[in-house]
Amino acid sequence: MKRCVEASAPGKIIWFGEHFVVLGRPAIVSAVGLYARARLCLSDKLRVVSRELGAVVSENYVDEAMKPFAKIIDLVGSMGFETRVEGVIESEIPIGAGMGSSAASSAAFAAALLALNDAFSESLVWRLGYEAEKIVHGQPSGVDTTASVRGGFIYYRKNEEPRSLGARLPENTVVLAVDTGVPRSTGVAVKRVLERYGRWESVMEKIYDAAETIVEEAVRALAGEDAGALGELMSIMHGLLVSLGVAVPETEAVVHNSLRLGALGAKITGAGMGGLVLVLADTRSSPRIIEGLSSESMSVRRIIPLSIDYKGIRIKHI
Ligand code: PMV
Repeated sequence: MKRCVEASAPGKIIWFGEHFVVLGRPAIVSAVGLYARARLCLSDKLRVVSRELGAVVSENYVDEAMKPFAKIIDLVGSMGFETRVEGVIESEIPIGAGMGSSAASSAAFAAALLALNDAFSESLVWRLGYEAEKIVHGQPSGVDTTASVRGGFIYYRKNEEPRSLGARLPENTVVLAVDTGVPRSTGVAVKRVLERYGRWESVMEKIYDAAETIVEEAVRALAGEDAGALGELMSIMHGLLVSLGVAVPETEAVVHNSLRLGALGAKITGAGMGGLVLVLADTRSSPRIIEGLSSESMSVRRIIPLSIDYKGIRIKHI
């Protein structure tokens, strides 16, 4: 019988500290219950297909989009392991939305390949996943890969070992990722923020200090499962992100309307200038919020209800 494995790895969302993290301030991210999966079987040849990318890597052919996976194959091969596998990579994580779809796909693929060689370990999956992410993102912080491998809420600061917070989402709350449908570029947004920082460093330092304080308060709010505090801190963080210049009318409409409809908090998540807004609501008011936002076709493309993934990467022998 063929030996086959399925590995699943979650995507991520940034709760607090995006952009501030670029200049060394802390951030909080969590894994979310949307997954990339790699289903691989040992074989006599190499052929792996990505369903979403419509691309393939084989012994003598690598589509451009499959280079991160080819890198993992090379590295695993150089460790003396078997890399002749056949299978498929698929993902339910929106691509290009800042939800860590590339990191999750790489982590799932690395985990499946290692598991087929009885060589799975979280730290090795992290290393391989991070190498693959470098091909996609140049100089990634590594936080997407960390969230995908570990799951749960993670406190992250550049050049420090990420810390699992062991926190749970407060009970009776709902988390929504509201997609404005406005295309965004992390690179462009980061550049804009750094330029503003350069022009107004004395002002910005105070805003960056405030962002750091919000993150520390959010750690406490999460530990105390205090939904009200968490939501309010999200909205304050949003105000700071606006001051960095990454708001656009569509993100502002979603934040404003979510709060008007009774959300506990709402903020841009990720790079901004479009993309996603993260909304925290209590279970009772969430239907009203979803209904209200759904009628805002000008600024809402889709609403993605999110659960938090607390487990990180998982392997199943199939
Ligand atoms: O939208 P995303 O997940 O690409 O978020 C980018 C987060 C930033 O802090 C804006 C940039 C970074 O590298 O941390």
